[in-house]
Amino acid sequence: MNNTLINQTKTILQEEDDLAAIYNLVSLLFNETEDINWLGLYLYKNNELVLGPFQGKVACTHIQINNGVCGTSFYLNQILNIENVHEFKGHIACDSASNSELVLPINYLEKRIGVLDIDSTSFNRFSKDDEETFNEITKLIGQRIKNINIQI
Ligand code: SME
Repeated sequence: MNNTLINQTKTILQEEDDLAAIYNLVSLLFNETEDINWLGLYLYKNNELVLGPFQGKVACTHIQINNGVCGTSFYLNQILNIENVHEFKGHIACDSASNSELVLPINYLEKRIGVLDIDSTSFNRFSKDDEETFNEITKLIGQRIKNINIQI
């Protein structure tokens, strides 16, 4: 596990302004993770996922639950580590350069809040170790986001 990244996440989430904390965190994760082209949050609102803070190219703004890698991860409440997105039925191509994708559900207690979505132009980019590191990070986001006033 990348304990440095996890500790940096904890430090950034200590920032008391909610939006400042989450925007800085997305920047940290994007810039400290090698070989990725997009990283961001989709947050649950009105029965769908809506684009939240992110870094990377312009992305789709609404994703239906159980659609695409993000909607499926949210629906199943399960981490999806997709080696080749072109083989994933229903994959939503926001940036056509993306070839693999890691999506992790964000939960607070029993409640699903959204997902963390990470894309790479490399095939099979994400390891078990990445899954474990970002799983810890999504737990920290989940604990913090319960207070966040992101109006989306
Ligand atoms: N590929 C995602 C859509 C979001 S973008 O990758 C930023 C999906 O299939 O859900």
